[in-house]
Amino acid sequence: MKRKLVTVTGTANPSFAKDVCDYLDIPLTTSEVGRFPDGEIDVKILDDVRGSDVYVIQSTCPPVNDNLMEVLLLLDCLRRSSAERITAVLPYFGYARQDRKAEGRVPITAKLVADLVTQAGADRVLSMDLHAHQIQGFFSVPMDHLYAAPVMIDYFKKIDIPSLTVVSPDVGGIKMARAYAKRLSAGLAICDKRRNGPTDTDIVHVIGEVEGRNVLLVDDMISTGTSIVTAADSCRKNGALDVYICATHPVLAGQAIEKLGKALVKEIVVTDSIPIRDGILPNLKVLSVANLVGEAIRRIHKSESVSSLFL
Ligand code: R5P
Repeated sequence: MKRKLVTVTGTANPSFAKDVCDYLDIPLTTSEVGRFPDGEIDVKILDDVRGSDVYVIQSTCPPVNDNLMEVLLLLDCLRRSSAERITAVLPYFGYARQDRKAEGRVPITAKLVADLVTQAGADRVLSMDLHAHQIQGFFSVPMDHLYAAPVMIDYFKKIDIPSLTVVSPDVGGIKMARAYAKRLSAGLAICDKRRNGPTDTDIVHVIGEVEGRNVLLVDDMISTGTSIVTAADSCRKNGALDVYICATHPVLAGQAIEKLGKALVKEIVVTDSIPIRDGILPNLKVLSVANLVGEAIRRIHKSESVSSLFL
């Protein structure tokens, strides 16, 4: 018997979940996600999900703890409602940067969150542009890792920036930047970034040629904007012409909007993995990855290859 495809979401980004459903040509399952008077989360799925193949679509973006808790409660609720298979679709996986013991006496929170998601009831996980590829191994269930690259590269191919060099704002992002450079037939450079604190980074060197070149800075996320704005400034100091920014997840925490607003950057391109207000910055472009996520869900449901989306 064929399992019914069902999608559920919480309060983080219902319009993204709706866009995914439009692609899949199915309605979003009716659910209620609210708060009890004391702030505890109150969840109820209103449609029957027994025996279904269910996808909980929600980024664990700010407010991170509330959105994560909603996902955990939805997973538990679905498991107890006898859904046959449950996939946590976390386009942006919060806490991903806490993926190692960078110093003594700190937790590895990305692993803890991965355990919480699986313990709550996820049989599979789907995410996009994880901060580090190894985080896939933190999940003890199958994990599909999507890339926003096809959507981003399609856009940058269309605008066809001449004399382009793709720049990684730090050493950790080289693999991502190299993939973009290859597909855009562009040069490649790397910023040697030192992080002094959550909102303080230095670029010691720019390794590679940016002088007289247009630059595309590629990153997995913009949180406080410190890394990307420092990298943009360094590229310009090293003689770059126009600077473009491309980052999958617009976390935009703290003073990010102010910092990006003051940066000498031609265009900032992000995706809708995290909701952002329209017109927040005049040079901000939001590309949708809803169809890409929808296609990945369709393929998982039909037991078709997901990796072939990125060949
Ligand atoms: C760092 O390794 C990440 O890829 C991002 O560059 C960084 O975490 C973004 O944070 P922020 O915007 O606060 O500098």
